[in-house]
Amino acid sequence: MGFLDKLFGKTVEEETTMTKLNIGIILGSTRQGRVSPQVGEWVKGIADKRGDANYEIVDIADFNLPFLGTTDGSEPGIAAWNQKLANLDGFVFIVQEYNHSITGALKNALDFAREAWNDKAAGIVSYGSTGGARAAEHLRGICGELKIADVRTHPTLSLFTDFENGSDFKPAELHLTNVNAMLDEVVAWSGALKTIR
Ligand SMILES: Cc1cc2nc3c(=O)[nH]c(=O)nc-3n(C[C@H](O)[C@H](O)[C@H](O)COP(=O)(O)O)c2cc1C
Repeated sequence: MGFLDKLFGKTVEEETTMTKLNIGIILGSTRQGRVSPQVGEWVKGIADKRGDANYEIVDIADFNLPFLGTTDGSEPGIAAWNQKLANLDGFVFIVQEYNHSITGALKNALDFAREAWNDKAAGIVSYGSTGGARAAEHLRGICGELKIADVRTHPTLSLFTDFENGSDFKPAELHLTNVNAMLDEVVAWSGALKTIR
């Protein structure tokens, strides 16, 4: 706390806003017709009700990242992507299963930053025919290399029972508990890891 703040104090609301963690909800798919925005907005709706962090949707598609190594790296989206990640304290990855793994778009976006990922926490919300479990496990391996601490609780959504016609997202009520438990862990670990950065 600065000298003036010590003298005059701050309101509790001011203190809380300033110290709140910034958590990015990262949409892992970029294809036309993707369902990830529906899933991301659902997670954000649950997260915002908690009031314990600043949650925002981070859409990889907005950054127009080239395929890594195919350009001179001067595209503004590359710097903007790194800046966005640098401003975040933790992440929730919205992960969809493509050929038993994560999307190429998410892998490319992961590869496009290094320090901006380090010493931060992440939760995973995945979907697919088997809840996106195989993709999520691949992502956990990548998180280790990027020094992202991935939390244990992992909501898994089924293309068969949580979506109508595989496209209209209608999540079962039971996932709410898991999403909140995952967010509890992400917020706790993000706060803890902030102290070592
Ligand atoms: C290229 C491709 C490969 C896929 N492979 C799998 C898969 O291995 N396992 C699975 O459960 N679903 C698979 N799917 C189905 C996707 O999980 C489903 O289409 C999902 O909606 C994709 O997420 P998105 O709509 O956000 O892009 C695949 C879809 C695509 C486009």
